[in-house]
Amino acid sequence: MDERIVVTRAVPEPALELLRAAGEVRVCEQDRPLTPDELRAAVAGAHGIVAMVHDRIDAEVVRAAGPGLRVVANVAVGYDNIDVPAVTGAGAVVTNTPGVLTDATADLAMGLLLMATRRLGEGERLLRARQPWNFHLGFMLGTGLRDKTLGIVGLGGIGQAVARRARAFGMRIAYTGRNRVDERIAAELDARYLPMDELLRTSDVVSLHCPLTERTRHLVDAAALAAMKPSAVLINTARGPVVDERALATALREGTIAAAGLDVFENEPEVEPGLLELDNVVVVPHLGSATTETRTAMAELAARNVAAVLGGGEPVTPVGG
Ligand code: DGY
Repeated sequence: MDERIVVTRAVPEPALELLRAAGEVRVCEQDRPLTPDELRAAVAGAHGIVAMVHDRIDAEVVRAAGPGLRVVANVAVGYDNIDVPAVTGAGAVVTNTPGVLTDATADLAMGLLLMATRRLGEGERLLRARQPWNFHLGFMLGTGLRDKTLGIVGLGGIGQAVARRARAFGMRIAYTGRNRVDERIAAELDARYLPMDELLRTSDVVSLHCPLTERTRHLVDAAALAAMKPSAVLINTARGPVVDERALATALREGTIAAAGLDVFENEPEVEPGLLELDNVVVVPHLGSATTETRTAMAELAARNVAAVLGGGEPVTPVGG
């Protein structure tokens, strides 16, 4: 087989089997992201690249791959790590993994929402620190969800899955985004469209489910945080740079908003140190899609995309397709 496929980090075996049937596979087995130099060296001569969210696939990487490159398959639904025009301009396609991680990410968003509103991380830290405690009526009170408004920024597949879960908790749904959703979906979710400023002003919880683009970078900045209710909670399972992390740390410290639950960070794997000092923020390390079933399905979908393109067919889930 002449096709050469480079996988930038270990993937589950079922995906590897699909890739091996499509070409000669080289998996970079190191236990950390490749450096930019290593990435350029690794992809030299590749026809297909299977990339992870932490791999920056820019024009230099595309050049390093050479003229044979036909597909870059991101093992993620978000593809802000890929310079799509650079790849397509070189005659290759970009694919992502929509759909297969929707439930896992929505579950995680609800987990963060519950942790932040019910102070679960704080409670756990108290016990692990072996602090004295006793039950009383005012002890470690959080806020309930029934009849509270969840403001969803980006009511795509994951946003809708979060809305369905939140409705089971008795929450009301508002949303904002570039486009209004289909009327049937809005009716099913009883979801009200609001402009961003009104959504910020009126929501009890704001949950981010938009892609990272130049439009959404620092969408939640100091001004947006100041517009939110002092009792509001911010949940981010989208991309770190959608939030100005420093402004968020200040807002949480000064009580501009009440709490936050974060799965993603501006400069992963770094986390703004100001956030880590605060009790009213829950932080987890980019776990949105981190279930065995979901990660396997993501890798398999990426592999099917590579196999389809290298086999001369249409990609299964092209970006923008
Ligand atoms: C995605 O798919 O974009 C996630 O962030 C990766 O888990």
